[in-house]
Amino acid sequence: MIDRRKFIKSLSSLGISLPLLSAKSFTTTAKNKKMNNPIILCSRGKDWAEDVLKPGWDILRKNGSLLNAIEKSANVTELDPRDTSVGYGGLPNEDGVVQLDASIMYGPNHNCGSVAALEGIKTPSSVARLVMERTDHIHLVAEGAQNFAKMHGFKIENLLTESTRKIWVKWKENLSDKDDYFPPADGNYDQERTTGTINILAVDKNSDIAGITTTSGLAWKIPGRVGDSPIIGAGLYLDNEVGAVAATGRGEEMIRSCGSFLGVELMRNGRSPQEACEDVCKRIIDINGGPSKVDFNDKIVALSKSGEVGCAAIRGKKGQEPEVATWSKKGLKITKGTYLI
Ligand code: GLY
Repeated sequence: MIDRRKFIKSLSSLGISLPLLSAKSFTTTAKNKKMNNPIILCSRGKDWAEDVLKPGWDILRKNGSLLNAIEKSANVTELDPRDTSVGYGGLPNEDGVVQLDASIMYGPNHNCGSVAALEGIKTPSSVARLVMERTDHIHLVAEGAQNFAKMHGFKIENLLTESTRKIWVKWKENLSDKDDYFPPADGNYDQERTTGTINILAVDKNSDIAGITTTSGLAWKIPGRVGDSPIIGAGLYLDNEVGAVAATGRGEEMIRSCGSFLGVELMRNGRSPQEACEDVCKRIIDINGGPSKVDFNDKIVALSKSGEVGCAAIRGKKGQEPEVATWSKKGLKITKGTYLI
């Protein structure tokens, strides 16, 4: 058995140095590299932007820790029961159990951590950070992830609120007229099947990059289903020489297109963050056989090392363009993105 540290050590004993194997040697170093231009981004628009970004920006503007900044911002939505697609109060799986997915990535050492199908912990992004910082692994799931969180002092709590429990019961009662549940007493069921999620990306004063994606995943999913959010390269990817890309929406499409990895590689090859987001959407449409075959949505956000922002969704409507929010020295800014179909 050879572990990662021993593997790296054995490479150096063979005269193979790590920089030779690092992403750097394959990259064109980011152009227009600007220093002291911190910025934090979230994939939500005006309704959430200020609440989510303020704690992160307060850390970044004082030159505090980049990881603390993105974690504090991610925790805002995770802890807020009003958001039914992330953390506490997220919509549950088909059994009524909330299972959370989250990932974190840190540019300077290209390290990452993630958790999937994690139950009972309100802040999965904080657990993902501990996986990255306190273990030699990257991905912990289900009971193992929960035990790990318990070991680090996290409280196990019921993540289903009264409001999401009622929405789940209604969904269940409305599923079929061939089962023994009567239809919901108050008539039609019109709850959309959500794949909410939030992405937080940031660049600090040294132009180092970090990001988080966190979600309760697809509402009513089959227990154990894992979406793109905890899969590095799918729901989140970054390269400290280039920038970061992350996604919300139908996770299965981001997984089979390696969408976030693709976006970062497109930026490495000269596409702007906006062009990269649009190209990832195009790729997903192509994989599915063209616009007429696409009845789902994905939204991609990107942030370059120099602080340039991109945002595109597969589907949209005039007046309801996808939005992305940033907070930098210029203040809070909401940017409208594009949609393809
Ligand atoms: N993008 C969130 C999910 O599919 O789980």
